[in-house]
Amino acid sequence: MHIDSSPLAQASVSRQLTAAVVQAWQQANPSGEVTYRDVAAVAPAHLDAELLAVAKFGADQNLTPAQQAERALVDTLVDELLSADVVVIGAPMYNFSIPSQLKSYLDRLAQAGRTFRYTEAGPQGLAGGRKVIVVSSRGGKYAGTPYEAALDHQEAYLKAFLGFLGMTDVTIVRAEGVAMGPDAKAGALTAANTQIGDLFVAQAA
Ligand SMILES: Cc1cc2nc3c(=O)[nH]c(=O)nc-3n(C[C@H](O)[C@H](O)[C@H](O)COP(=O)(O)O)c2cc1C
Repeated sequence: MHIDSSPLAQASVSRQLTAAVVQAWQQANPSGEVTYRDVAAVAPAHLDAELLAVAKFGADQNLTPAQQAERALVDTLVDELLSADVVVIGAPMYNFSIPSQLKSYLDRLAQAGRTFRYTEAGPQGLAGGRKVIVVSSRGGKYAGTPYEAALDHQEAYLKAFLGFLGMTDVTIVRAEGVAMGPDAKAGALTAANTQIGDLFVAQAA
């Protein structure tokens, strides 16, 4: 499944790269089906008290129209995730984290009993067994720098969140430094596209 979260269209680095990842996957899996979700174009609402009653606390009686829609949305998004073998997530860095539209989407995926559960031994992810490819786009450079740990709440957050749900097979396709001038941007895109070229090679062979 293919998820984009950049609010930008043609100008988006992550959209360009998620499309390339999906194209590479389709070449390696010609009969595979791809579900697409654009969480910037159709953004799940921020959770409020009305929506939380169903999204997190499981109310299913006397629901308001908004709550009925929320119940259906949560079920659809979780079903979609759990039926995907490969999940491609376009994730720009926004103020050291992710766009709030993507956060609102992830807020729907964390569902006790479906994607995780608490056991006596601690939390257990229930959404494992699928490969996740996160396309990370960033204006500056962080990987391997002394300030990576302090400032990266995007890739690190996504890995922690996905891991909590059991998705530990996460590959990061990274284009960083895209706001540091045309050469830096071109270099970042080349590096990311090289990485994409290698993603499904073993599968295609
Ligand atoms: C609102 C906003 C916040 C941003 N915050 C950061 C940031 O904290 N660190 C950074 O390196 N780049 C930041 N950027 C730059 C983006 O990460 C970069 O432009 C990236 O390519 C965005 O992904 P996209 O091209 O798919 O939209 C920000 C961009 C925007 C629009």
